[in-house]
This record gives sequence, C-alpha cells and structure tokens, in this order.
Amino acid sequence: MIILGIESSCDETAAAVYDGERLRSNVIASQSDHIRFGGIVPELASRAHERVIVPTVARALEEAGLRDELPDAIAVTEGPGLMGSLLVGLCFAKGLSIRWKKPVIGVNHIDAHIYAAYIDEKPKLPFVSLVVSGGHTQIFYVSEPLQHILMGQTRDDAAGEAFDKIGKLLGLDYPAGPEIDRLAGNGDPGFFDFPRAMLKKGLDFSFSGLKTAVLYYLQDVPENNRSDFIRENREDLCASISAAITDVLIHKLEKAAKKTGVRSVIIAGGVSANSMLREKARQMARKNRLTLHIPHPRYCTDNAAMIAVTGWFKAQKGLFDSLHLKPYARHQWTRYGMPQPQADPPCCSSRHRSDP
Ligand code: KG4
Ligand code: ZN
Repeated sequence: MIILGIESSCDETAAAVYDGERLRSNVIASQSDHIRFGGIVPELASRAHERVIVPTVARALEEAGLRDELPDAIAVTEGPGLMGSLLVGLCFAKGLSIRWKKPVIGVNHIDAHIYAAYIDEKPKLPFVSLVVSGGHTQIFYVSEPLQHILMGQTRDDAAGEAFDKIGKLLGLDYPAGPEIDRLAGNGDPGFFDFPRAMLKKGLDFSFSGLKTAVLYYLQDVPENNRSDFIRENREDLCASISAAITDVLIHKLEKAAKKTGVRSVIIAGGVSANSMLREKARQMARKNRLTLHIPHPRYCTDNAAMIAVTGWFKAQKGLFDSLHLKPYARHQWTRYGMPQPQADPPCCSSRHRSDP
C-alpha cells in the first residue's frame, strides 16, 4: 500500500510517500516568518501552509515517482496542533480524497512521533518511547504498532518549550533549544544546580518551575550587571540548564524501562537532537543493557514521513476515516495505568472514530 502523508500541525508544511518498505520521498517546507516574533504566530502559520501546501505535496509525489499511479490513501495530521494550520492540511487531504477517490486516514501527531522509529529501523517490541519536542513530553509503553499506553507526561511546559522559554530569558532567538545545546557544549553542567522537578515522583514531568528558577536566579544579579553576567556565563548557564532538563528526562525513561521490563527504548521529537540528552541516553542504555533507537534528526523534528508510516500501520488495520474527519487542537490523554503482561493490549491513544 502506498501512503501519502501530510503534516501541517505547527510551522512545518510537509509531505511524504511511504510504501510499507521504503520512504519514497520526504519534503519539508519550514516557516521562518516567526523568528522575529520570538514564537509561532498561529495566523501566520496557517497562511504560510496555504501558500506552500500545493507545491510541497506535488514535489513529494514527483520524487516518489508517482506520476501515473496514485497513492492508495492519504494520511493527514488531525491533531493536536494549531487549529488553522491543521485545517489547511486536513481540507487539502479531503480535496485529494474526493478527486482521487482514495480514503483519508487521520493521524494523531504524537502517535506519529512514536512511530517515526520505524522509518529507518524495526525496533524490537515491546519498547518504551520518550517523545520530547516543543509541544510534547510523554513516555509511552508500546506493545505493538498502534498499541501504546501513556505512562507519563508533562503537567505544564514541554521540554522543548522549557528550552525555548529559558533561552528567551538568556536573550537567545526562538527556537533556543539548538543554540542552548551548542553553547552547553563548552560549559560546566555543575556551574549552578537548577532544580530537577518531580524527579522522585512517578513518571510525570514539570518544567515550568525550572523556568521560574532561572528567572529568579537571574533577578538576583543586580540589574546593571545582569546582561554582562549572562554574557560572561552563558555557556555555563546553558550547560546547567541542559543538565537539569536532561537528567529528569533520562531518569524517567530509565524508570519506565525498569517498570515494564522492556529491552528497547526510543527517544523521538525535536529535543532528541540534544547532544547531552543523546549522551545520557546512551550511557543509561549501556548501564541497563538496553537497545537505544533515536530516529535520524530529520525524522525527530516535525515531518510527514512519520505521518505516512503511522498512516500505513493504520491502513493495515483498516482504520480509514470518512470526510467527516475533524481537527482537534488539544488531546486529553487517557491514563490506562501500568501495562500488565497478561492483559489485553489497551487501545491506541488516538480518539475512537465512531463519532463523525
Ligand atoms: O519536534 P519539533 O520540531 O516540533 C514540535 O513538535 O514541537 O521540536 C521543536 C523543539 C523546539 O522547542 C526546539 O527548541 C527543540 O525542539 N530542539 C532542541 C534541539 N533541537 C531542537 N532542544 C534542545 N536541543 C536541541 N539540539
Ligand atoms: Zn511534533
């Protein structure tokens, strides 16, 4: 089955074609309109999607060699994400569905981050996946494709959001994650001991306290010296902040792996590009004799390859949607509790589709 995937939930317009064995194409148009505003402006994002969605999809089809042949289905991100942006992708997918007489498949964006691991590899099941990006921080237990349980998630900011907001306090451009990562490489992670929130408490996360701690720490420096202080200690500050975020992420990932007894762990989402996180994940995996999978960075940040792959898994199970498919901005995760080895696998996190 050949699946065309379309992603437009945030500030990337992306299209990809996957045939169950090979990713035939993967096209991404990233928006730079938001940098000067220090964050994503939803209205600008949806307008930019409208401008580029046609050439992006056309290129993905062309690069996949689909000239006379049509894909068998169109997988599209249905949520969570920015409402206007999601609508552009969804309406376009529905238009193609009518024109081509091919079904649409709604894909949950966070599910897709989990299954990005299948683009290049075949991870051994069951596994635990840590999805960390600008909008998400979740840990899942995955018993088979589309059968996953949410084990923990952030109660406030996502890990990438913490990097971006703290970066703003340090005067860095949005998104600050990659720059903090780069600066941290030359800094001392022990320069300041920022809090590791909820380290001992379950598998949930909280990152908003760290942002406040950094704010108070900087406010303690006399105002006339503050910018000099930040400039002189930027690398050490970045290293200490990265250490606080990555310590918590890895600690919880290890805890989830031990609790479930899995032999494979996965890190996905934009923050998985972080060098300190990768290094700590490698050390943790070595210590616990786990196999670690981290998708290629181009499949960690938002992309349509992960939508096409997840759509492919759904197509195998006959999970097609009708044209009544609606976008959703937020998703309320169901907490199923810890997986029991003998229990029936719980249902996938995506919404039930009986309601049009
Ligand atoms: O997955 P993604 O492209 O978009 C979302 O779904 O949010 O992730 C973007 C996030 C941003 O918050 C960005 O600052 C963060 O990932 N990020 C990083 C790094 N590269 C991207 N954070 C820390 N270190 C990095 N190297
Ligand atoms: Zn994402």
